[in-house]
Amino acid sequence: MSGPLLVLGSGGHGRVVADVAALCGYERIAFLDDAPATGADLPFPVLGPLTMLGELASDWPMAIAAVGHNGVRQKLFQSLRDAGFAQPAIVHPTAVISPNARLGEGVFVAALAVVNVGASIGDATILNTGARIDHDCAIGAACHIAPGATLSGGVTVGARAWLGTGCSVRQGITIADDAVVGVGAAVVSDLPDAITYVGVPARPLTGP
Ligand SMILES: CC(C)(COP(=O)(O)OP(=O)(O)OC[C@H]1O[C@@H](n2cnc3c(N)ncnc32)[C@H](O)[C@@H]1OP(=O)(O)O)[C@@H](O)C(=O)NCCC(=O)NCCS
Repeated sequence: MSGPLLVLGSGGHGRVVADVAALCGYERIAFLDDAPATGADLPFPVLGPLTMLGELASDWPMAIAAVGHNGVRQKLFQSLRDAGFAQPAIVHPTAVISPNARLGEGVFVAALAVVNVGASIGDATILNTGARIDHDCAIGAACHIAPGATLSGGVTVGARAWLGTGCSVRQGITIADDAVVGVGAAVVSDLPDAITYVGVPARPLTGP
């Protein structure tokens, strides 16, 4: 892929996405951010706040929402869609994606992630470093599958769910929209609610 790419968000995740986009051959990359971190060592310029989207559309036809928060990223994705931007999937060259898997628009796939045959990945979802999505999984929109998470075959993940670093999910499990799975959890039964689950086996995280 070549050409210009706007990256919405210049925080940690935005910088990762921009890095990978450069590896993928995007020739001109810039951030939009309402509040860029001061003093951050950014590899590409920040053009200004998100309100500039409208005026940039003709020179920058492609963009990706690259904010870590799932709900915010989904809203940015919708704004980009409404404004007519193309939202390519950005896929690290070391990721392994089955030719018979489906990646939505604005998906980000980090280094060493694997997506196996028959899997589908919803719009604006993040598959982070080394995440493994086995055959026939259906991952909803704007999810974040964190580094090293492993989903066995046929797992269904609802929109905006956040599956923490290194968690494992048994085959055929269904996880609710907006559910959160803690780092290192083992999911062996369905997670039906939009709450946080932790532990081995994963159980609701209860307050003090
Ligand atoms: C599960 C999680 C969301 C809870 O965060 P939180 O609501 O801020 O909860 P706290 O850190 O205050 O912890 C509350 C309790 O849960 C326990 N806890 C937190 N995370 C846990 C986990 N993953 N597994 C087991 N117990 C956990 C804490 O030890 C604490 O127990 P205590 O009350 O007995 O001391 C968070 O710990 C987590 O795992 N987030 C995922 C992070 C991630 O994957 N990031 C990827 C970035 S790329």
